[in-house]
Amino acid sequence: MDRKDFLKNTFALCGLALIPTGLAESCTKQSFSGPTNVNFTLDLSNAANAALNTVGGALVTNGVIVVRASAGTFNALSATCTHAGCTVGYDTRSGNILCPCHGGTFSVSTGSVISGPPPSPLTKYTVTQSGNILTVKS
Ligand code: FES
Repeated sequence: MDRKDFLKNTFALCGLALIPTGLAESCTKQSFSGPTNVNFTLDLSNAANAALNTVGGALVTNGVIVVRASAGTFNALSATCTHAGCTVGYDTRSGNILCPCHGGTFSVSTGSVISGPPPSPLTKYTVTQSGNILTVKS
């Protein structure tokens, strides 16, 4: 059986649901989720966080992408794409969160899916600022 036949047969089996449990699980949609119990701080005066001192800057830390979308707006979302678990990035041109693996696009403000294969939104976290300190929490 070549690859094409295998895929054709596998999808046919998924459609009929006459399949063993292990194969059935592989046929269901799997969604990757972000970290839970998030609670960390970022010091904007620290060179490691310098990207966030510029509008359009972003960084990924603790499984979270933090974006400075405007002068006074920081957004924090899970950095794990819900489609297949790739790490997402911020696209300054479109102002959206993009997944490099299959082109999934998410809203930077809400984490909702704009386009592409992701089955669910990115988890959104709260960001508060006190002076140079950002606090990111679930
Ligand atoms: S892993 Fe992100 S779109 Fe597929």
